[in-house]
Amino acid sequence: MPAASPINNALKPLMHSYRQQVDKALEQILNNTPDRAAELHQAMHYSVFNGGKRVRPLLVYLTGQALGVPAAHQDMPACAVEFIHCYSLVHDDMPAMDDDELRRGQPTCHKKFSEATALLTGDALQTLAFETLAKNSLLNDTQKLAMVKILAQASGIAGMAGGQAIDLAATGQARSMTLDELKTMHEHKTGALIRASVQLGGLCQADISTDTLNALDQYARNIGLSFQIKDDILDIESDTATLGKQQGADISLNKATYPALLGLDGAKAMAQQCHAQALDSLRGFDEQADPLRWLSEYIIMREY
Ligand code: IPE
Ligand code: IPE
Ligand code: MG
Ligand code: MG
Ligand code: MG
Repeated sequence: MPAASPINNALKPLMHSYRQQVDKALEQILNNTPDRAAELHQAMHYSVFNGGKRVRPLLVYLTGQALGVPAAHQDMPACAVEFIHCYSLVHDDMPAMDDDELRRGQPTCHKKFSEATALLTGDALQTLAFETLAKNSLLNDTQKLAMVKILAQASGIAGMAGGQAIDLAATGQARSMTLDELKTMHEHKTGALIRASVQLGGLCQADISTDTLNALDQYARNIGLSFQIKDDILDIESDTATLGKQQGADISLNKATYPALLGLDGAKAMAQQCHAQALDSLRGFDEQADPLRWLSEYIIMREY
């Protein structure tokens, strides 16, 4: 990526400032939960503050920014989706699922604490997400209810959890899926929470039109898919130190991935195609949506 690209000059400073904003809000919420000394509380804090990229909160903020909504209105939805994401990673790493020992450069939650604590950490982060949405005093009840519904659907059997189940059922059979089945799996396990992030950002504008939400959703569908395709590519092309998680983990479990089915070049072409379609979905938006456009490029260019 050229040093003077919009990603380096404009998106990265925005990522930095929104990361600080969401980290402050996440810290406040976690500090207000009871039993601060208990192991469960430590494990929740550990699993939220271990260096994630905060892409989902960023999507909430950048969508709000594209619509001219004040950033403070995005804080609680941004935290809620990150809590769900962190929970999904804690469970994803457990021995019964991907059995990974390294996450974001540190021991996974069950390695650092115990399997029982990792299960509870996921459970407690999940419910904290919905409590966070429900308690938000900056949004009206209609907005809050819509957000709860969207995040619940995106996290459950119709979204992330459903996608994880498909992933596990296909583990060990890298090439057994059709391309359509693989797309469905990625859309669920990763795409659903990315779509929810954009919808949550959109719903911060109380009177957002269905057309605008639909256009944003088209964008989100495409970057949701390119995000997981790139994750699959990085598993092959990157290294453990850069990724902060074990490189080659998909291959060692014989996971169904885009590179497994299409080869690396085919997977890269598919990610580029998703990026082009994401940009096309935003054609009706003005320059306030430029950070969303840059983010789509960042997703397929990122190194971890
Ligand atoms: C990793 O997500 C898991 C997937 C859904 C592909 P991220 O790459 O966003 O992980 P963090 O939050 O930055 O660690
Ligand atoms: C995880 O996908 C998706 C969710 C946690 C929902 P992966 O299993 O590919 O994520 P990594 O590679 O472990 O981060
Ligand atoms: Mg997994
Ligand atoms: Mg995994
Ligand atoms: Mg992966």
